[in-house]
Amino acid sequence: LRIREARLSSTEAAVAALREQQVPGTEEAAATEISTRKKTFSEVLAERLEQAQRTVLINCPSKINEKKFLKYLSSHGNIKNHFFYESYGTYAVVEFSEKDSIASLQDVTGTPQFKDECPVPFKSRIFTLTLKNPASQASEHTPVHRHKLTTVPLGGLIKKLRDADSVSDQLHILTEEYQLTEENTKLRFLTCSLIQDIAGAYFPACTVKPFGSSVNTFGKLGCDLDMFLDLDDGGKSTTRRKTGPFNLDYQMKRVPSERIATQRILSVIGEFIDNFGPGIAMRSSELLYIYGSLDPRVRALVLGVRCWARAHGITSSIPGSWITNFSLTMMVLFFLQKKNPPIVPTLDHLKELSDVQDKHVIEGHDCSFVSNLNKIKPTGNTQSLDVLLGDFFEYFGNFAFNKYSLNIRKGKEQNKPESSPLHIQNPFEPSLNISRNVNATQLERFISLARESAWLLQQDKGLSSSNGQLWGMAAILPELTANSASKGTKKKRGTTSDRLKGLLDSLKTNNSTNGKKTFCT
Ligand code: CTP
Ligand code: MG
Repeated sequence: LRIREARLSSTEAAVAALREQQVPGTEEAAATEISTRKKTFSEVLAERLEQAQRTVLINCPSKINEKKFLKYLSSHGNIKNHFFYESYGTYAVVEFSEKDSIASLQDVTGTPQFKDECPVPFKSRIFTLTLKNPASQASEHTPVHRHKLTTVPLGGLIKKLRDADSVSDQLHILTEEYQLTEENTKLRFLTCSLIQDIAGAYFPACTVKPFGSSVNTFGKLGCDLDMFLDLDDGGKSTTRRKTGPFNLDYQMKRVPSERIATQRILSVIGEFIDNFGPGIAMRSSELLYIYGSLDPRVRALVLGVRCWARAHGITSSIPGSWITNFSLTMMVLFFLQKKNPPIVPTLDHLKELSDVQDKHVIEGHDCSFVSNLNKIKPTGNTQSLDVLLGDFFEYFGNFAFNKYSLNIRKGKEQNKPESSPLHIQNPFEPSLNISRNVNATQLERFISLARESAWLLQQDKGLSSSNGQLWGMAAILPELTANSASKGTKKKRGTTSDRLKGLLDSLKTNNSTNGKKTFCT
């Protein structure tokens, strides 16, 4: 079930694959089988990428008549879904039922003419709508609902947390507020798909897929969008054999030698790879997706810990010697593996459950593990999130980081192979430490804040509330007072690449309009 069947929806592709495997039963039975079980990572990815390819982004005037707008677009084909959002102007994201509708819309679209500029004959899926008579639309318009890409300000969140019944409730509220919304996820896939269009002009067989927290279930509004550019979609395209007398000539600047030509190509590709990450990261995204889909407590705990860490400045959006969200996620998973009975299985166990289709070896590293979530036995551990959150802080507040490394493949601590303050083994490349960047000071801050939070969480809820004090999650999140400039609604015009940058900015937006800082990374 790889993206090979990009033209089919994932359900259709899965049905086809089941048929190929000659699974007994009718087509309907296969379809029901897929709709009732949890989707695999590749099914989710294939479905969302296919959806993104049928989608366009339209920069609209701020006063727009939604009905007329949709009616006009419907003349190009059936609209399956749409929403508006605000970021440097008003944007509409419109998903057609058929990909052909986009070509129909592109056919009637003009290209702006600028003096002394030669337009590149490339038709993107980003449009700008200019109305001939904006006043007439304004008079009859009812404001459209604009989807928010930002999170609630901290003050509002603390109030909600105070009114909850338990820490479990608090973590569920926090998850609801901070998890990636359906619209935000759609925008992330659309961004990849739009970049794929551009890269596709040079590398027609390429694919651009999101990885990291945008797809591994642990994403928080405002988190970055990690993209993986595969120039040859896993080597699926085959080079044509020469049959006629003609050779294709590539439009490439003439250079003195083949060696220099190769160097140039490699440096362009290298830039891409530098920015868009390695292949193994796709596997670790799928692994985290599996852990995050197994039990609802996993996501709630990871998001709670991420918010806590960001609010205390333990993590940062700027790279440096701090702990990253990826390391924190691994710490939570390790802690859940150490529970008795364990709440999540070890990576070795997931490998034991895998079958032939799940076999993956990347650069000599065995990255195989089960992809079918239904093969994994649910845990017998019923501990509440109230207990787990407190235990997490207590566990790591007292962990012998000086001696041990965390290994989620074995679900066991191991003697540290080198002296980095924090050592978390990369699950697929055991010789790598995913937290090599963390220095002693940052680790000590984490430890002392974990101890303090463990203590605060042990305080009696009733007593704290009656004394007017914050309790639970609300007590362990410090109030953030820093102001951040509001830049959400300013109009920004520009080229397709500016628009793509704008789109990325809006996904990363970590401010709210009332000047209170929210912590979104
Ligand atoms: N990754 C890795 N080894 C590292 C760092 C990152 O394998 N030392 C992979 C992980 O799959 C990770 C992804 O690259 O999920 C993206 O890294 P990053 O953006 O730092 O982490 P996210 O999990 O996306 O979390 P965040 O929301 O902070 O971006
Ligand atoms: Mg990321």
